[in-house]
Amino acid sequence: MLSKVKNFKSKKNKSKIVCLTAYSKNIAKIIDKHTDLILVGDSLGSVLYNFKSTRSVTLDMIIRHSISARQGITNSLMVVDMPYNSYNNPTQALKNCKKVMKLTKCDGVKLEGGLKIIKIIKLLIKHRIPVMGHLGILPQFTKGKFKSKGKSTKEKKEIIRDSKLLEDAGVFSIVLECVEKKLAKEITNSINIPTIGIGSSNNCDGQVLVTDDILGLTDSKIKFVKKFIDTKKAISSGVKKFKKEVKSKKYPTKRYSY
Ligand code: KIV
Repeated sequence: MLSKVKNFKSKKNKSKIVCLTAYSKNIAKIIDKHTDLILVGDSLGSVLYNFKSTRSVTLDMIIRHSISARQGITNSLMVVDMPYNSYNNPTQALKNCKKVMKLTKCDGVKLEGGLKIIKIIKLLIKHRIPVMGHLGILPQFTKGKFKSKGKSTKEKKEIIRDSKLLEDAGVFSIVLECVEKKLAKEITNSINIPTIGIGSSNNCDGQVLVTDDILGLTDSKIKFVKKFIDTKKAISSGVKKFKKEVKSKKYPTKRYSY
């Protein structure tokens, strides 16, 4: 396994792991100093394109945004989400993941699911492609409102089974989305790779959120989203100042003109 990925894995049981999304160079560059992992998530569909579901995100879109984000990442592990319909069978998945790895120069890919895609994951790992798993709510395969996962015995058993399957297949980490608190603890304690929670309590080894959400750029009402700063206000204030100076002809002065 590549040393950057190994290093990420070794963070389990040391200190909490910090992960965020980025879809472009400028944001990636700002957050990279503070994060352990940057995900070019297919959440870009709703965040940037107003899509109702992540299913509309295409491979080309994710590749374009990843190429941009790559320019800003030097410290964090960079992982790219494989979009819906890009890993329907082992042959197609391998072809598309190789394309993503080659064109974006990312460190690994993330795929949603457990048992259903285990053959695909094993094939990718056999071809030395680092894979991050994703269990609990799977946005690419979930219709309607997000509810927590792991309340019923059946769901609980399935998620535990899938986390073991993914670990045995060789994934380097697993995102747990909206997994019930006790179950998140059970999984985190029973596997030797980091669990990264999103709406799955602080019982996980690390946390991931969508950067635009924590910066207050979106109007997300999802329960696990916390707005850490109101960036909208800062942008608006800068734009207002620019507008005022353009209108009053204060900008551009000689200093800003050729
Ligand atoms: O698409 C995404 O951003 C994700 C989350 C885990 C943050 O998959």
